[in-house]
Amino acid sequence: MQFIDLLTQKDRIRTALLHRIESILDRGQFIMGPEVTELESRLASYTGSSHCVSCSSGTDALLMPLLAKGIGPGDAVFTTPFTFVATAEVISLAGATPVFVDVSPDTFNIDPDLIGMAVDEAVQRGLKPKAVIPVDLFGLPADYVRISAIADAYRLWILEDAAQSFGGSFMGRRAGSFGLAGATSFFPAKPLGCYGDGGAIFTDDDELDSVLRSIRVHGSGVDKYSNDRIGINGRLDSIQAAVLLEKLSIFDDELEARQRIAESYSNRLRNRLEVPRIPDGYRSAWAQYSVLAASAEERERHMQALQKEG
Ligand SMILES: Cc1ncc(COP(=O)(O)O)c(C=O)c1O
Repeated sequence: MQFIDLLTQKDRIRTALLHRIESILDRGQFIMGPEVTELESRLASYTGSSHCVSCSSGTDALLMPLLAKGIGPGDAVFTTPFTFVATAEVISLAGATPVFVDVSPDTFNIDPDLIGMAVDEAVQRGLKPKAVIPVDLFGLPADYVRISAIADAYRLWILEDAAQSFGGSFMGRRAGSFGLAGATSFFPAKPLGCYGDGGAIFTDDDELDSVLRSIRVHGSGVDKYSNDRIGINGRLDSIQAAVLLEKLSIFDDELEARQRIAESYSNRLRNRLEVPRIPDGYRSAWAQYSVLAASAEERERHMQALQKEG
């Protein structure tokens, strides 16, 4: 049994996708072709953001805004320890110091009440507090109302790690659209995944958008051979953009199916295990459906029983 059944999903989009790929092969524009521009415009309107900058992975989508904002040695960037390694890794890659803030036991997302204390401690260590990267774990957006209030008070800018939450929402706003910038991943097993690596950054900030576009292509300037800053090779392939365009056409339907299935799991498991808590006003993209067992032994027992059932 597969974690995500990508083969069945492929059958739904196969004909239209092959058509798109064939036209890319005929045209020969494999990098940053018109599919990439079309995708960026559709994703920006999906999240309600002014800009979408597609890129080569969720990791680069997190790294690029840090580079764009000049994050570097001596800076403290706050995030949670309960995440995929890339969230903290990019802070170190930028030369800054990751400072961990514990999660709330209800949602597993960053506990806004603990951010202030972490900032004070970072200052005592001689670091300059700059930004916070809340993670929307398992598909559930973090509490951006409380996080924004604290970030404003401490003059931190927010980079939303929406790698797992694309398609989720909080108070009617879609994941990826919170903070100064939001970063998502199109790794195949993500709620919206391509057939390789891919990612995207969302922002309403015009200046940030143009710096991100430069960083994506080696810090490119106005003409092909001028390079204004240090950047990376962070482009999205045309074929991956084509995959995402087709998957986007069935995405809302898939999110509804995930929601229906998650409810069905919760109804059946509630009496045996602690099931996910989705607070009022939130929608999860259900990147993962996770349950808590009462003890390590109980967890092991459930895992063995499930493995026995295949
Ligand atoms: C929370 C989180 N952040 C960042 C990433 C990195 O994304 P990618 O694998 O596309 O680089 C992932 C996905 O693996 C993730 O789950």
